Amino acid sequence: MLVPVADILKKAQADGYAVGAFNTVNLETTRAIIDAARDLRSPLVIQVTEKTLEYAGGRAIFNLVKNVADFYAPDIPIGIHLDHGKGFDIIKRVIDIGFTSVMFDGSRKQYEDNLMVTKEIAEYCHSKGVNLQGELGSVPYLGEIEMMDVAWNEYMTDPGQAEEFVKETKIDALAVAIGNAHGFFRERSEPDYARLEMIQKRVSVPLILHGASDWENGRVSEVIKRGITCFNVDTAVRVAFINSLIKASKTQEGISFDIRKSLGSAREAVKDVVKSKIKIFGSDGKA
Ligand code: G3H
Ligand code: 13P
Ligand code: ZN
Repeated sequence: MLVPVADILKKAQADGYAVGAFNTVNLETTRAIIDAARDLRSPLVIQVTEKTLEYAGGRAIFNLVKNVADFYAPDIPIGIHLDHGKGFDIIKRVIDIGFTSVMFDGSRKQYEDNLMVTKEIAEYCHSKGVNLQGELGSVPYLGEIEMMDVAWNEYMTDPGQAEEFVKETKIDALAVAIGNAHGFFRERSEPDYARLEMIQKRVSVPLILHGASDWENGRVSEVIKRGITCFNVDTAVRVAFINSLIKASKTQEGISFDIRKSLGSAREAVKDVVKSKIKIFGSDGKA
């Protein structure tokens, strides 16, 4: 059943566990993610990016997620969220469609600009009863920079700024940069736990960790202890899906002409990965 993301995050924060926010693009990944959460009785955030809205159609993907959640997981709290919204227009558009949680990603702007625009968007969101996630510091993308030699200090969230940013903008959740990166194998060798502790001391809203596809048990529990309430996972979903198709293409029969068979296997592969992430995040059994 669809519920506000805020309710899911508040409960996780109060009870000391984290939830996964998984990116979906189509029917197969939507069913896989929601079925995994239902099987493990886990609260869930399911999210789409601007590119997915473009690809699938905003109303189509929103109603798909809503219908699958209501029908296949009626007693599991599921929140739908806009991931990495880049401007006011897209945020207004998805709110009109029915999204109750959105992210404005102003992380590539100068601090003052990010603060000013995020604040303006937060006022709008709150006037519509919608929750807003902001980002401070910046989470790099695979292929964007020379990963062998990342100047991590340029990306990190400054704890003092985080306090001011949350207070001034009144955002409901904050995405932080502590050495995390989008895509596989691109993290800092050790997350900056001390920085995260300082952020947690100064900020009371739920903290979100992007780029969580390749975060393993040890790191995950260390950052949950220090306030991370939600982990964003996209790459692991895509890789599971595509690897399943590649594997099928290499069998003697090849990819089935009955595409429901090949897409069905890809869906199962995604479901398995989502289940393993949910267990690592510790939200299984919490619904
Ligand atoms: O962090 C978000 C995604 O990994 C980027 O996804 O290709 O749908 O924009 P996208
Ligand atoms: P990954 O691509 O590393 O899974 O990160 C996902 C993400 O941060 C979506 O916002
Ligand atoms: Zn992200």
